Parts: sequence; C-alpha cells; structure tokens
Amino acid sequence: MTVHSDIDRTLIDRGTPERTSTQSVNLEIDGIPVTVPAGTSLMRAASLAGIQVPKLCATDSLEPFGSCRLCLVEIEGRKGTPASCTTPAENGMKVTTQNDRLAKLRRGVMELYISDHPLDCLTCAANGDCELQDMAGAVGLREVRYGYDGDNHLNQAKDESNPYFTFDPSKCIVCSRCVRACEEVQGTFALTIDERGFASHVSAGMNEDFLDSECVSCGACVQACPTATLMEKSVIKHGTPERSVITTCAYCGVGCSFEAELQGNRVVRMTPYKDGKANHGHSCVKGRFAWGYTTHKERITKPMIRKSITDPWQEVSWDEAIAYTASEFKRIQQKYGRGSIGGITSSRCTNEETYLVQKMIRAAFGNNNVDTCARVCHSPTGYGLNTAFGTSAGTQDFDSITDCDVIVVCGANPTDAHPVFASRMKRRIREGAKVIVIDPRRIDLVRTPHAEAQYHLPLKPGTNVAILNALAHTILTENLQNQKFIDERVDAADFKTWTDFIRRPENSPEAMEKVTGVPASDIRAAARLYAKGPNSAIYYGLGVTEHSQGSTAVMGIANLAMLCGMLGRRGVGVNPLRGQNNVQGSCDMGSFPHEYSGYRHVSDDATRQLFEKDWGVKLDPEPGLRIPNMFDAAIDGSFKALYVQGEDIAQSDPNTKHVQAALSAMECVVVQDMFLNETALYAHVFLPGTSFLEKDGTFTNAERRVNLVRKAIPPVPGLADWEVTMKLSEAFGYPMHYKHPSEIMDEIARLTPGFRNISFDFLDKMNSVQWPCNDKAPEGSPVMHINGFARGKGKMELTEYVPTDERTTARFPLILTTGRILSQYNVGAQTRRTDNSLWHQQDVLEIHPHDAEFRGIRNGDHVAVISRAGETSMTAVISDRMQPGVVYTTFHFPDSGANVVTTESTDWATGCPEYKVTAVEIRPTNRWSEWQEEYSDFKEKALRIGDPKVAAE
Ligand code: SF4
Ligand code: SF4
Ligand code: SF4
Ligand code: FES
Repeated sequence: MTVHSDIDRTLIDRGTPERTSTQSVNLEIDGIPVTVPAGTSLMRAASLAGIQVPKLCATDSLEPFGSCRLCLVEIEGRKGTPASCTTPAENGMKVTTQNDRLAKLRRGVMELYISDHPLDCLTCAANGDCELQDMAGAVGLREVRYGYDGDNHLNQAKDESNPYFTFDPSKCIVCSRCVRACEEVQGTFALTIDERGFASHVSAGMNEDFLDSECVSCGACVQACPTATLMEKSVIKHGTPERSVITTCAYCGVGCSFEAELQGNRVVRMTPYKDGKANHGHSCVKGRFAWGYTTHKERITKPMIRKSITDPWQEVSWDEAIAYTASEFKRIQQKYGRGSIGGITSSRCTNEETYLVQKMIRAAFGNNNVDTCARVCHSPTGYGLNTAFGTSAGTQDFDSITDCDVIVVCGANPTDAHPVFASRMKRRIREGAKVIVIDPRRIDLVRTPHAEAQYHLPLKPGTNVAILNALAHTILTENLQNQKFIDERVDAADFKTWTDFIRRPENSPEAMEKVTGVPASDIRAAARLYAKGPNSAIYYGLGVTEHSQGSTAVMGIANLAMLCGMLGRRGVGVNPLRGQNNVQGSCDMGSFPHEYSGYRHVSDDATRQLFEKDWGVKLDPEPGLRIPNMFDAAIDGSFKALYVQGEDIAQSDPNTKHVQAALSAMECVVVQDMFLNETALYAHVFLPGTSFLEKDGTFTNAERRVNLVRKAIPPVPGLADWEVTMKLSEAFGYPMHYKHPSEIMDEIARLTPGFRNISFDFLDKMNSVQWPCNDKAPEGSPVMHINGFARGKGKMELTEYVPTDERTTARFPLILTTGRILSQYNVGAQTRRTDNSLWHQQDVLEIHPHDAEFRGIRNGDHVAVISRAGETSMTAVISDRMQPGVVYTTFHFPDSGANVVTTESTDWATGCPEYKVTAVEIRPTNRWSEWQEEYSDFKEKALRIGDPKVAAE
C-alpha cells in the first residue's frame, strides 16, 4: 500500500457550501441537465456538472456574499446577469455560464481589479498559487485600459506583526473572504471592512495591527484569501511547495487533518485539509503554524548515555545505546526482581508506537508495569464511562453538535484547549443553541462575539459532584426525566437505588448552594434547560477528571445523560474532550497496568491466553504499577529502572519534588524524546525520538476517530520510534518482526474486537473511521449506544459528594486551579520552541482583584505561591475571570514550577492527580523560590553534553 499519498487535488472549490435538503431541483446549465438539493447555488450546481464559473469572492467554506460580480450568468427568461454564487438553483431554469456578453462583463470586472493591483506576479510569493492570477487568465484579460496612474492602494504599508503571516493591503481586492472566514469559520470576529467605496479596506480590530488585535492566528483568513494579501511568511521565505502529504496534527485531541506541504524535505506550510473529518478544513495556531520545533536547534538527534546524572552526556551509536539499556535493565532485574523495572507510554505517540511499548513491557520485561500519561488526565473518564455504559470513550462524533440544542461545557475550556471544535461550538451557539458553562473561571464561552451562555455556574473548585447531584435532584424532583428511556435502557434496580439517593434533601440545589457557591435558582434553571433539550450534549474536560472525585463526577455526568435520555442519537451524548492528540488511543492500546488493548483485564484468563498465543510468551496475570506507585516504589527502593517514551513526567506530574526524588532514586532512567526534557535531567540514556512529520501510524482523537499519520520526511535520528522499540525488545530477549507500522495495526485489529476492520489500507480508503469498527459496524461508529449500551443496561452509580481533603485553612486560604492556554501546549516542549511564545512567554498567576488588593499585589508583581507541597513564584495578573478565593495558572513552562505546589491527592478510583484543587497562599516577593534557585543550578549541570570523542574512547 501507499501511505505517502500525494494531496488529493480533486477537492475542487465549488464556490458555495453544500446544501443537504431532501428536496431536489432539476435545471439545465449550458445545456447539461443537473439535479441538486434545493438551496444549492447556481455556481455549485454548475461545478457539480463540471463547469467552473469564474469567481473571486466565493469559496465553498463560506456562505456566498456576491460582491465581486465575476460569476455573472444568464438565466433564460430573466433580465440582467445575476451572480451565480448568490442565486439558488430552481426547477426548470436554463442557465448560460459562457457567452461573449458574459466574457466581456467579466473582463471588465477583472480589469478594474488589476488596475489597482501591483504588477509583480513573477516575483510575488503567491505566483502560481493565486486565484486573482488564475481568474485573470480564465476571463482572458490581456490588457488594462485605464493605466496605473490614478488613485490606487499600491503604496500601503504591510502589517508584518504576526509571526506567521503578513498582511499586504496593496494586494487586497476587498473581497471580504477573510472577514467572513474569521466570523463564520473561526467565530472570532477580529476583522472588519472599514469605510466605503474606494476607501474600503480590511481592518484588524480597531485599526490595530494583527498582533494587537483579537486575532488568535488560526489562519482561516490566510486560507480564504484569494490573493497574496494574507500570506504565510514561510511561503514568502521559501517559495511555494512542490509536494504534499496528508497527515494528522500532533497537538490536541481534536485530531485535525493537514496537508504537510514541502519542498524536498523542508516543510513550508501546513494547510488544514478540507476533507478532514474532524476539522473540515479549519485549524488553530498550533497545528497550522507551530511546527518549527521539528527543526529547532535544541533537538537531539543522536543517542546519548551517561553513568550518573551528574556526568555530561556522551553521544553514542544506536547499537551502543540499546545494548547499554538492555544490560542495565537486565542487571537491575536480576538484582532487584522482575517487578523492579517498567515503562511509561505517551499520548503524543502513535497507536502503533504505544502498542509496541506496552507489548515490550509485558512480553520482554515480563511484568505489567506499564502506565500512560492518561493516568494524570482522563483515567477517570475510562473508569466512569466504562462503569456506566461499558465503553471507555465519548459517545458522539464532533459533527453531532450541529443537531445540538443545549450545549453543556463542564470543566473544559475549548477555545484554548480544543480550538477547532470550539469554533464549531461557537457556530452552533450563533445558530441558536443554548449554553450552560460549569466552570470556576469565566472562560471565553461564557461570552463570545455574538453569543452568550444562558447560565454560567461558577462553582468552587472541587464541587463538581455536588453540582451534578443538584442538577439531577432538580430534574428528578420536578419530574423532568425521560422515563421511557430509563425504563428501556437503564438497570431498574440501580435506578431505584440511585433515585432514593439523589432525591434526598442534602442533594437539593438549595442545600448544595453553600457547598458549590452557585445560586440554587441558577442550578434549577440550568437543570430545566438541559432536561428540556430536545437535544442536549455534555462536553467535559480535565476540570471534571482531575479531582479526588474525578471518576464520581464522570459517572454523575453519565447519570444525567441517562436520566434525560440524552444518548444514542445525534446532538446529544457524553463527550470527554481529550487533551493530547492520542489520549484516546494510548488508553485503547492497553497502556494501563491492568488492561490489554480494548480495555480487557490482565487477570481475565481467556484474554490473557489470546495474547499469550499471539505473542508466544507467558504473561503476568497480576496488574502492574501505576505511575504514582512507580514513584513510591522508587523512593522505597524496590523500583529501579524506567523507560519513558514521549512523556515529561518531571514537569507534568504533580508534586514535582516527589517525582524528582523518585527519578533520582532509580539506577537507570531511559528517556525517548525529541528534546532533553525535564525528565531527561534525571536520565542515564537518551534515545532521540521523531516528530509526527517523520512517522507512519495512527492517532485516535477525542471522538474515537482513527486518523492516519503519514510520513512526510525520513526520521531525523535515523530510526523511527517503533524501530527503536523493536531493537530494544530484541536486546531484552524478545525479538519482534514488523516491517512497517501497518503490520502493527494488523496485529492490533487481530487482537482487539473494536478495531477488527481497521487497517492502514482501509483508513487510506475511508479517510478515517471511528471505532468500534468491526463486523457489526463495518465502516465505524460515529454515534455509540444507539440501540443499547455496550454493557447492556446502563448503570447509574451512586455519586455521593465527598469534599476533598485538600481544604483551605487560615494558612492556605486560596484554591489554586490549573489549565491551558491557546498558544502553548501541555508541558510546552514543542510550542515553547516556536514563535507561539510571543503570546505567552511564561506561566502567570491569575488572581481576583479583591484577593490581590487584600494582599497588596498589583498587576505584574512577582508573587510567591505556597502550598503544603512546596513553593514557587511567578508573575501575578489581576483578572476578573476569577472568582474571589480562587487563583489560576498554567503549567507550560518548567521553570515556573506550577507542579511544585500541586499535591499528591488523587482520584479515589484511578489515582488521577487532583491538579484542580490545591490550597495555597499568595504573597508578594522579590525572589525566586528555593526550589527554583536549586533547580536552575541543577539543570545547567544536567544538560551538559560532552565531547563525542570521549565516549568513543
Ligand atoms: S485580505 Fe484577501 S481575503 Fe481579505 S479582502 Fe483582501 S483579498 Fe479578500
Ligand atoms: S487568523 Fe483567524 S482569528 Fe486571526 S484574523 Fe484570521 S481568521 Fe480571524
Ligand atoms: S485544534 Fe488541536 S488538532 Fe486541530 S490544529 Fe489545533 S492543536 Fe491541532
Ligand atoms: S464569486 Fe459571485 S459575486 Fe463574487
């Protein structure tokens, strides 16, 4: 098979969006009979008949606008020459798109445009990739009669403030495609057309430059611009691409498809792929522009080893690094026992890479000491949804939101963390869907341009379960539940027990008001809105899972959805918004210590025998260590060696000092990554990893969509990550024999019921599919649980609210909660090494004006953040997004030490850390914390790379 397939150039721009009416209309265009859905424009109908009408202001990602007048046509029996982009097709129409009169009119229009356009086509960066140039050719324009001496816009200054694209107004034809893209596709409304007539021009914000405006650099306007007015700087610098490869973004769980456009092996542009099923041609600043880290000078491309973490690193060959790792791990296992070693997989890696690492640990290490970074984010989702429905995954596809009437966003901040899906949400909200935001902080979705949430329930951090119970109490006591759904789909005994519990007065909004801080009347009103629907969907994030009751809250959400029958069709559902690109996949692939792929327990004899037979090795029936247990065991002295692929536990996991102590206590830590990350400071072996551009494989996004990742360039370190794992496994004594990642997927499909029909060839043919994809659902499952739950009847678990032990006291009177920001991604290893840092150069502490004033803190002051676990310091930003008593920060920069203060408190069921609730005190300071001082010194030493010759001697 060919996975390096070139870009599908058959994706013709049909000028106006598709219409999906059930009624058809029949007409004739240039003598060709055409049948199209009612509402289809003449331009699109013509295009479907193979006739491309010249156009400039129209493009099929935007509603028609009708401003350029290039697409004129004649309609038999009608006067004039209507614009084909704004005229709907009607039964019996006879349309002419080409004749001398139309050609003359179009040439006249083009002549006017070109008379006010620089004549620098040959040296223009868009030469050969410019719709204005194409249209001038298409209409046969050969001369401009007006000359170029009159008033024009040719000397206007370029706006180069944005790090990724320029705005050159001298080339603008004021077609408004950029303005409409910003409104319709992105939903930011950063652009306007100011003034009128000849003076009309595109303006960012209030005549600001792009960088200072509301623009979030999604690139939709650049994509929509038919000229070189809005242009990627990388294309201006390097020229237009020669080839392209369709692949998948390696940042967040939306899983946007992109065309990686290249010259040779240099990427010059990432263009969102129009046929991408998760993004439909849209993107955010990270996927679209922040790929420069792949060639950053700090990237490590050679394996390195060192005896002690105080020694400088020494470059070695792949063979030496692998032999050294194997001998150390074997030595340690012989000395300390089979369970003294383990590994951690990453949600940044492909399904195939992750599957292989867990296989190596189970088959070659001979234990189940494998865990994944989902432990610290969405493990409660796995537990909670599996308990309620029998499947550890979200229920819908993203497109389902187009049928949603009430959108509940709980503990998620989609505009920052899942921006492309947030744009879909905002569009649906502008179309009239109602919104309920449950979040301690006033996130953007509470009020966006042209849309406002009906209810913002600004609960105190740590009280999700209380509020979910109060919502359910209202629905039940006001008799708003969907009894038919309950009778048919929910376990009756469970429902009875749950009903008796949730009806209790202590679960009422009035009783919970004291706990949550949210007025009972708002909770009641929100509950009625959700129950009424008709289609209500819940989207939630780490603000739900990263709590001591994370799993309980997930089950509370599932209970609400079952109570109101909001499952099993489009427009409804329970939808975890996964943080990293492959969180869903890393869990699906069997990365947890107690589960094989497909969430089957290691103690289940039949499942284990299936894997033993296929892998040809005896497997351990006992679950292995979770990440926090590995740390504890390391400190106790029984866990001595760790292999970490693509994950930076020293920065991302809570209570940094504890993690550092655990890593320091180990005898061999192996880190595989692109950069010397914070964990690598404690490592003895560094294996260079590859970027998404260098690999073949698959990522599974938040909607269970398995997307192909296609190799655009060869692996920079010489070996692909899956090849490294194979070599390691062989050195450990368990050889593997794959020739390509597609063979790993074949094995996954063979051994995992929900993946049975998936293969690289099938994905190549289908574009992408959502699991389950098997005999029952041969082309995948956009919506789950349509006729019944995977477990049979839905299970409504009791969800008693238990306050977290992490309480505020006189010493620690504020609650710190953490989150993400648009321009940075997770631990920042990638985005910090791009121009995205222009927007966010450090983690800051957001604090409410009252809390700041009480402590004498002004905007921009340096403040100490002190918790029971530790102390760090950062810059304070006064923000009324916060509620009094709650402060907020991000964790994208290691030196800010956000996780130095987070504690070891965890979810009762899964051990997921309670990042979202830490009792702290904030006070002004003029120094770095002790931890920051010590860490900075240590880091300088731990990063030293020695002379390669020394290693060879
Ligand atoms: S910047 Fe581009 S898209 Fe926007 S109005 Fe000008 S030519 Fe049209
Ligand atoms: S980059 Fe995106 S947000 Fe910025 S102006 Fe263009 S469309 Fe709007
Ligand atoms: S929304 Fe997520 S997947 Fe899409 S481009 Fe942005 S970071 Fe990438
Ligand atoms: S393309 Fe129809 S008016 Fe511009």
